[in-house]
Amino acid sequence: MDIDDFSLDPGVVHLNHGSFGAVPKVVRERQGELHREFDHDPDVFYTTLLDRIAKARNEVAAFLGAEPEGTAFVANVTEGVAVALNSVPLAAGDEILVGDHAYGAVGIAARRRAELTGAKVVTVTLPGREDGDWSGEDAAEAFLGAVTPRTRLAVFDHVTSVSARLLPVERLVEGFRALGVVTIVDAAHAPGMLDVDVSGLGADFWTGNLHKWCFAPAPSGVLAVGPAWRERVEPLVVSWYQDDGFPRSVEFQGTRDYTAWLASPHGTRLLDGLGARTVRSRNAALVARGQRIVAEQVGLVPWRSDPELSMRVLRLPEGVAQTLPEAEALASELYTRHRCRAAIRPWPAAGLLRLSAQLYNQEQDYERLASALRAVLPH
Ligand SMILES: Cc1ncc(COP(=O)(O)O)c(C=O)c1O
Repeated sequence: MDIDDFSLDPGVVHLNHGSFGAVPKVVRERQGELHREFDHDPDVFYTTLLDRIAKARNEVAAFLGAEPEGTAFVANVTEGVAVALNSVPLAAGDEILVGDHAYGAVGIAARRRAELTGAKVVTVTLPGREDGDWSGEDAAEAFLGAVTPRTRLAVFDHVTSVSARLLPVERLVEGFRALGVVTIVDAAHAPGMLDVDVSGLGADFWTGNLHKWCFAPAPSGVLAVGPAWRERVEPLVVSWYQDDGFPRSVEFQGTRDYTAWLASPHGTRLLDGLGARTVRSRNAALVARGQRIVAEQVGLVPWRSDPELSMRVLRLPEGVAQTLPEAEALASELYTRHRCRAAIRPWPAAGLLRLSAQLYNQEQDYERLASALRAVLPH
C-alpha cells in the first residue's frame, strides 16, 4: 500500500499518523456502503444493527486478544476512560495516580472525577522528564512507589502520547493488582501498533483506539473490562438495553452513526491480510531511520525510544515550542511554508517533535521534514 491507497493530500508530507490515523480508501468504501444501506431503508438497518455490532465487536475483540463479552465499542479513548472513571466508586480522600506523561484530556477527566467525588489526583513523575531517559523498570518503580494506603485507582498509558514511550504495562497491572489498586490503561496507540493480548494483560479497564493504527474510520475505539467489573460498568449515556448489561448498555446510544464500528473489522482484516507483524516492523524500522535522519540533518537530540513503536521523538532546540501557542505556530509554519505535518508539543525546557511512520511514508518524507526544519528553526 502507498499514499494512493489513502485519501491523504499527496502534496503534503504526513508524519503525524499517531494523532488521527488515516483511513484506507477500501475501508472508507465499506463504510460508504453502510451509509448507503442506512439511507436506503433506515428501518431495516436498525433491525439488524445490534447483531451487526455484536459481530463486529467479536471480530475486533479476537484481533486484540480480548474477551468479546468483556469488550464494548466506544467512540474513542476519551469516552473509554470516562466510562471507566465513572464506574469505579471513589470516596473523599481516595487517591488516583496519573503519570506526568499522560494525555492531557485524560488528566482533565481524572481531575474532574476527583472533584466530583472528593478524591485527589496524585501525579507520578517519571525520572528524566527533560530527556525521556527512563527505562521500563524506572517507570514501574515510580508508579508502584507512589502507592499509599489511600490509592484506589491508577491511570497509565500503554504507549505515551507526546513522548511516545512504551510503559511496562504487564508489570504495572500485576504490581497494582497486588497492592489492591484498580487499573485503567490508556492504550490509545496500542491496537494495531502493538501485538496486544488484552485478556492476558488482565487490567481492570483497558481502552484503545481503532482509528489510529488499525485502519478503521474515526471515531472507533474499544473499552475492555475485567470480569470483576463488567456488572458494575456505569454508562455515561443511558438509553435502551440497560438490562442487557455490558457491553450493550454502553454501546447503544439511540440514533447515531454506528458505521465506523461496523466498518472497523475491515481495517483489522486489512492489517491482518498485509501481515500485521510485517507492517509493524516496517513502520518501526522506518521511523527509527526517520528519527536518525532528522537528528543528523537538523542537529536535534533524539529521545530514548522503544524499538517496537511506530512513533519516535526528538527534542527541539532549547526555548523552542515551550508553550502551546509557540508549538502550534511552529507546526503551522511547517505546514504553510513547507507542506509538512508532524506533531509538535510543548514540554519543559524545549518542545518535542513526534514522528510517526505508516505504510504511506517513505524515507524521503523525513528528509523533506529535515530540510523544512532547517529552514524554520533558529540557527
Ligand atoms: C495516549 C492518548 N490517550 C488518549 C488520546 C485521546 O484519543 P481520542 O481523541 O481519540 O479520544 C490520545 C490521542 O492522541 C492519546 O495519544
